[in-house]
Amino acid sequence: MSDTGSNAMWGGRFAAGPDAIMEAINASIGFDKRLAKQDIEGSRAHAAMLAATGILRDSDAEAIREGLLTVLSEIEGGTFQFSTALEDIHMNVEARLKELLGDPAGRLHTARSRNDQVATDFRLWVRDQIDAAISGLEALQRALLAQAEAGADWVMPGFTHLQTAQPVTWGHHMMAYVEMFGRDAGRFRDARTRMNECPLGAAALAGTSFPIDRHMTAEALGFDAPCANSLDAVSDRDFALEFLSSATICAMHLSRFAEELVIWSSAQFRFVALSDRFSTGSSIMPQKKNPDAAELIRAKIGRILGANVALLTVMKGLPLAYSKDMQEDKEQVFDAADNLMLALAAMEGMVSDMTANRPALEAAAASGFSTATDLADWLVRELDMPFRDAHHVTGALVKLAEDKGCDLPDLTLEEMQGVSAGITEGVFDVLGVHNSVASRMSYGGTAPEQVRAQIARWKEKLA
Ligand code: ARG
Repeated sequence: MSDTGSNAMWGGRFAAGPDAIMEAINASIGFDKRLAKQDIEGSRAHAAMLAATGILRDSDAEAIREGLLTVLSEIEGGTFQFSTALEDIHMNVEARLKELLGDPAGRLHTARSRNDQVATDFRLWVRDQIDAAISGLEALQRALLAQAEAGADWVMPGFTHLQTAQPVTWGHHMMAYVEMFGRDAGRFRDARTRMNECPLGAAALAGTSFPIDRHMTAEALGFDAPCANSLDAVSDRDFALEFLSSATICAMHLSRFAEELVIWSSAQFRFVALSDRFSTGSSIMPQKKNPDAAELIRAKIGRILGANVALLTVMKGLPLAYSKDMQEDKEQVFDAADNLMLALAAMEGMVSDMTANRPALEAAAASGFSTATDLADWLVRELDMPFRDAHHVTGALVKLAEDKGCDLPDLTLEEMQGVSAGITEGVFDVLGVHNSVASRMSYGGTAPEQVRAQIARWKEKLA
C-alpha cells in the first residue's frame, strides 16, 4: 500500500491528502463512533461467513475475530484513539485492526463495501432503538394503568374545545393514553418487521463476484433475510424514516399529554400534583413549583419532527445508489432517538409519581353544566320528547341555572316544570355526575365497569 500522506484506506490513486476543510466536512467519526458495537458485530459476522465459504483462510478469520474483540474492548474501555483523518467508524476500526494484526486485517473488506457496511450498522442501531422505544412505551403504559386502576371511578370533567363537555372518569382519561401509546408501540413493531432485512453483501451497489453466503450473515445478525436487491440495500434509509415517523407520532402523543399535565397542575385546575422529583422551583418566586419536565416533553416533538423532515429532505431526489448525502442521516436519528427515550422515561416517572386530586376532580366534574346531555337524554327516554326538542328544553334550563348562578341539580322541580311541565322528580337521578358516568355503558364508554374491562384487557396484553 502506498503512503503519500493520502488516506491509507483508499489512497492508491491519490497523490496528496485532503485539505483540512475537506477532512472536516467529510469526517463522520465524531458521531458515527456510536455505531462501533454494530460495526464490529457486522464485521465478525462477515469474517465468519468469509471463512465458512472458503473465501478467507481459517487462520486469518480467527485472527480477525480476536482482533475485532480487542478493538471492541478498547472502544468500550475508552482507550481507543479515534482519528478524524480516518473519516468514519468503519475505517477507524479497520485501521486499528491492521495495527493489531498486520496483513490479515486487510482481507476483512473482501466482498464488502462501506456502503453495505454502514447500511447494516445503521439498521442494527435503529433496530435496538425500536426495541428500546417499545420497552419505554410499555413502561409508560404500566404507569398509566396503575393510575387508571386507582381512579377507575373518580369523576372529572371531560372537555371538548377545552370547555366542560360531559363527566368522564379519571381511569377513562388515563386509558385513552394507554390506547395511543399502544398504537405507537404497534407502529414501531411494524417498522421493525419491515426493516429487518440485511444489506450486508450488497457490497458497493451491485453485489459481488465472491461466492458469499448472505443468508448466513443475515441470520447471524438477527435479520429475517438478506435484502433482495443490492441497489436498494445500500441506497435506502426508509427504515430510519419509519423510525422517525413513528417517533414523531409518539412525540405528538407525549406532547398532548404533557400539555394536559401542565394545565392540570396549575393553581387554577389543581387536578394533579406532580412530585418534587419531577418539578422545579423558581429562583425568584418562592411559591412556584414548575412542571418543567412536562414542558420539555411537550417541546421534544420540535426536534424529533425536525429530524424527520431533515432526513426526508436529504433523501429526496437522490439517484441510486449510495451518495455521501446519506451520511447526514445519523445525527438526526441519534438526536431524535436520544430525546424520544428521554421523554418516554421522564413521562413514565412523572405519571408514576403524580397524585390525582380526587376532590378537585369531582368538584370540577359537577360544574359547567356537565350533565346537560344526561338531562336531554332523560327527556327523550322518560317523556318521549324528540331529541331536538329535548336539546332546546335543556338549553333553557341551563340558561335558567346560569342566570340564577347555580348548577343544574340546584334548580327546584317547580323551576324545571316552569320550562317543561312534564318533568318529574326522577330527573334529579341523572343530574349527578356519578350516575352520569355509570350510565355510559356503551363499549369503550366512560362507565367505571367499561374502564375496568379495558384495564384488565391491557394488563393481560402487557403481561
Ligand atoms: N461514513 C459513510 C456514511 O456514513 C460511510 C459510507 C461511505 N461510503 C462511501 N462510498 N464513501 O455514509
